[in-house]
Amino acid sequence: MAPERKFFVGGNWKMNGNKKEIDGIIAFLTAGPLDPNTELVCGVPSCYLEYCRQKLPATIGVAAQNCYKVPKGAFTGEISPAMIKDVGVEWVILGHSERRNVFGESDALIAEKVGHALSEGLKVIPCIGEKLEERESGKTEEVVFSQLKAIIEKIPLDKWENVVIAYEPVWAIGTGKTASPQQAQEVHGKLRQWLSENVNAEVAQKVRIIYGGSVTAENCRELAKEADIDGSLVGGASLKPDFIHIVNASQ
Ligand code: PGA
Repeated sequence: MAPERKFFVGGNWKMNGNKKEIDGIIAFLTAGPLDPNTELVCGVPSCYLEYCRQKLPATIGVAAQNCYKVPKGAFTGEISPAMIKDVGVEWVILGHSERRNVFGESDALIAEKVGHALSEGLKVIPCIGEKLEERESGKTEEVVFSQLKAIIEKIPLDKWENVVIAYEPVWAIGTGKTASPQQAQEVHGKLRQWLSENVNAEVAQKVRIIYGGSVTAENCRELAKEADIDGSLVGGASLKPDFIHIVNASQ
């Protein structure tokens, strides 16, 4: 991680937890100790957004795990960025591989959501990443660049400070098969280079690119040492007290 980029850790709770379990997570996060040099954000199920925002310290961000691309209307089951903001929540995760692959969200839809969420004043964690067969057939760069291309077209230049990109190889999510620090760094470095060529050098230098996919208390420090890895997006391990070690991985 480069010193000019603040280390960023997202906990992605996915569809896990009830109030009792969430109280447990909030208790270990509040007890910490948390490195004040890490920006920490928890991605919580939508029905607990307000509960978590009220119970978590203000120093810990809260993120929705999805939202729709317009402010309101006849879209049964969806929530809008305006609603997320209305309950005091600052962030949204968009384009997670489970949204793409389980719910069939396209690059175009994800890009529209990113653009709308930013225009409503939310901060956004757009996720990209290749599947195993894409990696094995040498298509990793092609896939992540085209996912990113759709997204950057919807990000106005003055909104980049509200964006944290998550690179999450699909084969590493929830599988226990973490990308090695070298494998992850290789892609992060190429993404930063691509951003410098396709947005500009300043954005490429400043934007945080975090890694996700089976990050644990054991492997987080090696990942954090890599030049272009600015933190992590953590699923399973964000539900357990060991998560504190991941938050503090850059110390
Ligand atoms: P995992 O999930 O840490 O459980 O692999 C990461 C993610 O999906 O964001």
